[in-house]
Amino acid sequence: MTTVQPNMPAAISLLLRLFLLLPLSSTAAAAADSWDSSLVYAGCSAATFPAESAAQLDLDSLLSSLANSAALSPYSSFTSSSVSGLYQCGGDLPLPSCAACVRAAIQRLSSLCPSAAAAAAQLRPCLLRYSNDSSFLGRPDTSLAFRRCGPPSPSSAAADRQAALSALSAPPGAPFRSAAAGAVRGAAQCAGDIGAAQCGDCVAEAVARLTAECGGAGAASGDVYLGKCYARFWPAGEEGSQPSSCAHRRRTRSADLWALFSLVVVVVVVAVSKA
Ligand SMILES: *[C@@H]1O[C@H](CO)[C@@H](O)[C@H](O)[C@H]1NC(C)=O
Repeated sequence: MTTVQPNMPAAISLLLRLFLLLPLSSTAAAAADSWDSSLVYAGCSAATFPAESAAQLDLDSLLSSLANSAALSPYSSFTSSSVSGLYQCGGDLPLPSCAACVRAAIQRLSSLCPSAAAAAAQLRPCLLRYSNDSSFLGRPDTSLAFRRCGPPSPSSAAADRQAALSALSAPPGAPFRSAAAGAVRGAAQCAGDIGAAQCGDCVAEAVARLTAECGGAGAASGDVYLGKCYARFWPAGEEGSQPSSCAHRRRTRSADLWALFSLVVVVVVVAVSKA
């Protein structure tokens, strides 16, 4: 299901194992909400802030600023003296769900890697990312964070898939895009800290990967999450359903992303099937 980088230090490996023991499904409270709280991926740096340090206090305050802001806006970023962070909710997510999603992402990270100097968590509808290296903010990042292709689809869906994917990658500009072509639906989202042109480039890269890696295999659905954007497609009428076969669950160690994070050693990629 997951593989562990061979050079991963034992402590990180242990952290990963502990994480994998955590319940993967969402809480009852989240299930009562209408939004999909599935975890797509999460990762964090090996470096941590010392307990009760000024940096740790900065991090706590950054995270609560992000959580509070998510009730008011689908995107925000904050920078303090020791840490910078952002969240991005899907463009079609109502703000109360955005706030709930960002809070859930913060909770995920605080159980996975409390006090990490840099971390990212992507739940299905929202991304949360922070680092004590503020240079990640505003910088494009097309490193692969997660990819999954669904089971094969009827070959008749190929043209629809192609049409939906080209609609997603067509115009630069909007940070959130959705597409519908025949029996296929698609969506793409950029993090709000990159510009329209960079967003266009990022989505084009995600769509190219979807086409090459999932489309080529005739998959009925596909998800590609890069550092600052994602693109997805799925069969009409199956929004929220998770492919259970032919899954490519991948743990990546992308040079770009990790350079950004300075000392990040591990990315935990967990695909969660909704029960
Ligand atoms: C981030 O914090 C860690 C842990 O305190 C430290 O080792 C690292 O040098 C910091 N990186 C930057 C860019 O400040």
